[in-house]
Amino acid sequence: MSINLTINNKVITAPDGATILEAAQAAGIEIPTLCHHPDLTDVGACRMCVVSVEGARALQTACTTPAGEGMVVNTMSDAAVASRKFTLEMLLTDHPNECMTCEVAGDCELQDLVYDYQVPWPDHNGKRHQWELDPDPNPFIFIDRNKCIVCGRCIRACNEIQNRDIWSFAYRGFETKLVAGADQLMLDAGCESCGACVAYCPVGALQDKMSLGLGRVNQVEKVRTTCSFCGVGCNFDLNVRNDKITKVTSAQDAPVNGMALCVKGRYGYDFVHHPDRLTRPMVRAKWLDPATVAERVKNGEWAVFTEAQQRRASLTHQRASGNGHSASDHRSPAIPQSAILPDTFVQTDWDTALDTVAGKFTQVKKDYGGDAFAVLASAKCTNEENYIFNKFTRQMLATHSIDHCARL
Ligand code: SF4
Ligand code: SF4
Ligand code: SF4
Ligand code: FES
Repeated sequence: MSINLTINNKVITAPDGATILEAAQAAGIEIPTLCHHPDLTDVGACRMCVVSVEGARALQTACTTPAGEGMVVNTMSDAAVASRKFTLEMLLTDHPNECMTCEVAGDCELQDLVYDYQVPWPDHNGKRHQWELDPDPNPFIFIDRNKCIVCGRCIRACNEIQNRDIWSFAYRGFETKLVAGADQLMLDAGCESCGACVAYCPVGALQDKMSLGLGRVNQVEKVRTTCSFCGVGCNFDLNVRNDKITKVTSAQDAPVNGMALCVKGRYGYDFVHHPDRLTRPMVRAKWLDPATVAERVKNGEWAVFTEAQQRRASLTHQRASGNGHSASDHRSPAIPQSAILPDTFVQTDWDTALDTVAGKFTQVKKDYGGDAFAVLASAKCTNEENYIFNKFTRQMLATHSIDHCARL
């Protein structure tokens, strides 16, 4: 069933049960919001969305008021605009004047509304909060309660999306404080570090700790990708600056997961630039022709690294880069040919590595039969990759000994 109402002199049709906000948005009419997010339950906390409704005694919150048949709404009445300006001014009376250096400038709903409504900075000598910065040792989430506008979006995101219910408001009046658990540290309160609360915070009160100082929204390029940690297929945006990943931001239009991500998807990206990461195949020297190894290492096509060199490189990297964003590969130069032992790993090209594996598989199958193989598939692969793995195992290796790590 649908209803008809008038918003800003425009007659519109909306589904029965829609709020004024939903009806307006569907008709392309913008109403400012702060505590509202389409993924979350509406609570009508911030009063930015107030509108005039003919016949109503006071301004109504568009996010919580159902649209009614024949309703006449004005979203830009003098009273509504004045109320929004006053709300913004009140928020700024207890907000640091830090947009110039703030991590989320350019990606801040409060900043945008203050701009839209041209609210001047309130210069007063009254009380402002002076909360401690970054008071929680959670390795991923940076808290700046001085910027909190008490909208409760983080509380609802944690409760309704992650089902953890970590955040709540404690104390009263000016002492109101966003707390984890019973005013505990986040991890002690049971936080899973999924970062959903950060993703839904409309301002810079909750931020991604690993990304601080690495680039604001207008300085990064967003690249949509699929998470490589498991087969669910969550999508998100890699924020890239100077060819380095600075952050992961979830995307509302991600088909599988929407804004939700787990801790690995949101914060487990530092492996990408880590020097320990294998970017080329390694083959034990004993599986290769020694003369070819000598020649290719000498002319720089292949390389050999001792374990000691790799450990040293890893330590150097850790010291140089606390957050895994080292700019260069710190590995030492290749060791002399005389130091290459049978089990030494040789960094080869892909063709050589794959030919070696194929040759060994063929030999083993010929000598001992397919049941000499056992294959363990991975939840980090997509369904399609695991399907191919299954076909490869049964048809090429000729064994049914295949299992999947998720079953173990
Ligand atoms: S949270 Fe928003 S309004 Fe507050 S300082 Fe940062 S950019 Fe400015
Ligand atoms: S990181 Fe996730 S689990 Fe922890 S408080 Fe935020 S939303 Fe809740
Ligand atoms: S931390 Fe952010 S989302 Fe949570 S109440 Fe404060 S401003 Fe709102
Ligand atoms: S958006 Fe409606 S009250 Fe906050």
